Amino acid sequence: MEFTIKSGSPEKQRSACVVVGVFDNRKLSLSAELIDRASNGYISEIIRRGDMEGKLGATLLLHNVRGTLADRVLLVGLGKERDFRDKEFRSAMKSAVKLLNETGSYEAVVYLTEEKVKRREVAWRVEHAVVVAMEAVYRFDEMKSEKAEVRRPLRKLTLSVPQRSDLTDGEAAAARGLAIAHGMDLARDLGNLPGNVCTPKYLGDRATAMAQEFPDLKVTVLERPALEELGMGSFLSVTNGSDEPPRFIVFEYRGAAKPGRPLVLVGKGITFDTGGISIKPATDMDQMKYDMCGAASVFGTLRAIVELKAKIDVIGLVAACENMPSGRATKPGDVVKSMSGQTIEILNTDAEGRLILADALTYAERYDPMAVVDIATLTGAMVIALGHVATGVFSNNDTLGRALVAAGDDAFDRAWQLPLWDDYHEGLASNFADFANVAGRAGGSITAACFLSKFAKKYDWAHLDIAGTAWKDGKEKGGTGRPVPLLTTWLLAQEGVQH
Ligand code: BES
Ligand code: MN
Ligand code: ZN
Repeated sequence: MEFTIKSGSPEKQRSACVVVGVFDNRKLSLSAELIDRASNGYISEIIRRGDMEGKLGATLLLHNVRGTLADRVLLVGLGKERDFRDKEFRSAMKSAVKLLNETGSYEAVVYLTEEKVKRREVAWRVEHAVVVAMEAVYRFDEMKSEKAEVRRPLRKLTLSVPQRSDLTDGEAAAARGLAIAHGMDLARDLGNLPGNVCTPKYLGDRATAMAQEFPDLKVTVLERPALEELGMGSFLSVTNGSDEPPRFIVFEYRGAAKPGRPLVLVGKGITFDTGGISIKPATDMDQMKYDMCGAASVFGTLRAIVELKAKIDVIGLVAACENMPSGRATKPGDVVKSMSGQTIEILNTDAEGRLILADALTYAERYDPMAVVDIATLTGAMVIALGHVATGVFSNNDTLGRALVAAGDDAFDRAWQLPLWDDYHEGLASNFADFANVAGRAGGSITAACFLSKFAKKYDWAHLDIAGTAWKDGKEKGGTGRPVPLLTTWLLAQEGVQH
């Protein structure tokens, strides 16, 4: 989809459709008011008759409204005016775009971006309008033999800003939104692909293809012999039961004016998690194809960063493999040596994410990073703690933890910080190795983060547990593209800060 920014009166737009908001209680938005005036009160008449009550997300499509130059006017309910905040803005935008995409308008001019949203400037509204619009039209039918054809899909959206002086900011915001949306689309696609297609090799090949598409991006893919050479005994222990060879993917983007210490993203790329010998129950096991969504968010975020040519240095690391049972698989009680030299007693082979991340975190040391953020669908306990709303944040540096939470708030890709106190480390004690890979059930997400912290002592580090936020179950089953918006927003905020 294509986006442009414009400033001007709604009744004067020559367009297939003009989109304006209506609040609850018969309160017209400023742009609806202008259409109402131009049409001699047609809009207020419709509202008086009760055809549009202004409930959040309600839509009413009108044709040939007199006094206007557009073919159609779409009224969108905005809910109560005093409750119209970021979430409501996004939800109204989503309803509008869904309707436009399903009806005959291949193009439209949207005035919702002119509405006041608490704490959010016009640039925020434009950026989010773009992201939400792209999310609303996303489809995944790569694996279907017949693609569902939308007859006249929405091709172009023009977003209106209140003043001509807002145009420049608006255009930059739209570009940011579009890059984030492209990154989310990529993360969603990779997540949605089944485990028999999206293998570690497939991820490596996609990364290589990305470097061909974006010359500013350098990609190196390491295979088993190189990983053995590096001493990644923890990562490799997870691959033992699988016939699919592992991949370790290194993305390098150097956009900073002066070469400096990079920001490093590390993604968990388990392309399927059966649990290994500590095998998972059959119910819903198919969802474990999403166990590479951390890796997918690294792909997506790097895509957004290169598209924007951001002035920062970013490294992306992805450890990719399958977790399978077999005669050669790692067994509970096995002890392995990580790249850091620390030994691990693997008491549960289903706690495999932390084992692959351990070595990836050690690998990150070579970049002398300014900060390292890992992203992983790490624990079922995260879903119990924060549900499907917020990503869990853990950090050995409070400023970094808070910056990530703030970026999540800005991006409406929300995250919440949990503690990493020493007290939680005790459960990982082992009689046979330096420590075990699991503690008890209590505080499972925190003890998992504690385990990771043992491999991240040499730099500022944060861990994002996206087990509850990376995909949706039920009718809307599929990848969400989270936390690409959070990560991109955080990285862009480091432009000029990085040194
Ligand atoms: N990939 C899972 C975590 C997961 C489970 C994410 C369900 C989303 C939904 C991870 O590898 C795992 O199996 N974790 C175990 C850890 C346990 C053995 C300490 C878990 O959460 O049960
Ligand atoms: Mn597991
Ligand atoms: Zn897993």
